[in-house]
Amino acid sequence: MKPFEIFSQQQQTWTNFCETTHVREPSAVCLSTMGENGVPSSRMVLLKAWDERGFVFYTNAQSRKGKHLLENPNAAMLFYWDGLEQQIRIEGKVEHTSVDESDSYWHSRSVDSRHASAASAQSQVLNYYGEYEDRVAKLKESYGDEGPPRPKHWHGFRLVPTYFEFWEGARHRMHTRTCYELKNGVWHRFMLYP
Ligand SMILES: Cc1cc2nc3c(=O)[nH]c(=O)nc-3n(C[C@H](O)[C@H](O)[C@H](O)COP(=O)(O)O)c2cc1C
Repeated sequence: MKPFEIFSQQQQTWTNFCETTHVREPSAVCLSTMGENGVPSSRMVLLKAWDERGFVFYTNAQSRKGKHLLENPNAAMLFYWDGLEQQIRIEGKVEHTSVDESDSYWHSRSVDSRHASAASAQSQVLNYYGEYEDRVAKLKESYGDEGPPRPKHWHGFRLVPTYFEFWEGARHRMHTRTCYELKNGVWHRFMLYP
């Protein structure tokens, strides 16, 4: 089975699990990036779409992660699906989502979320919280219920994978690690000691 099919199966199981256990953010994933200073940095994002082209999240490209990704497109995603005892690591390079894709996702969001995202100078110093509230209020005055247009610096990134690792917990530490590496367009499967 190809890594995308395994991801699909496991994600479906996770989605079903989340429905019965009321996990708040089933699509949360840890994203790690590293800018040109060579210092890694991680934070959570929401996986908004995925297919065989890659794994998509949306953010402010002027944020710390956005700057990192401009300097160095290599990135890693880490899913930990507690309750299923599964960890999935995905590594590769990011590319921008298309304008249409970014616009379409932007308009699928609530008006309030669009005001809040457009007003946020994400990752820059905020002197006092009211400053952010004022910026949101100004946008609301200008754009009202229609909401602001998507800022050019707010868009999706697609992590195009070249490596997957599926870790599955087992009794007595007999865990399994099944890996797939893309070489010359072919996925190679191998296992690692846990
Ligand atoms: C569960 C969860 C989901 C998040 N999803 C996103 C997201 O999809 N996009 C985003 O820009 N920030 C998201 N955040 C906020 C980021 O973790 C982070 O604080 C923000 O993007 C700034 O990161 P940076 O300074 O490293 O760029 C999320 C946070 C949490 C806890």
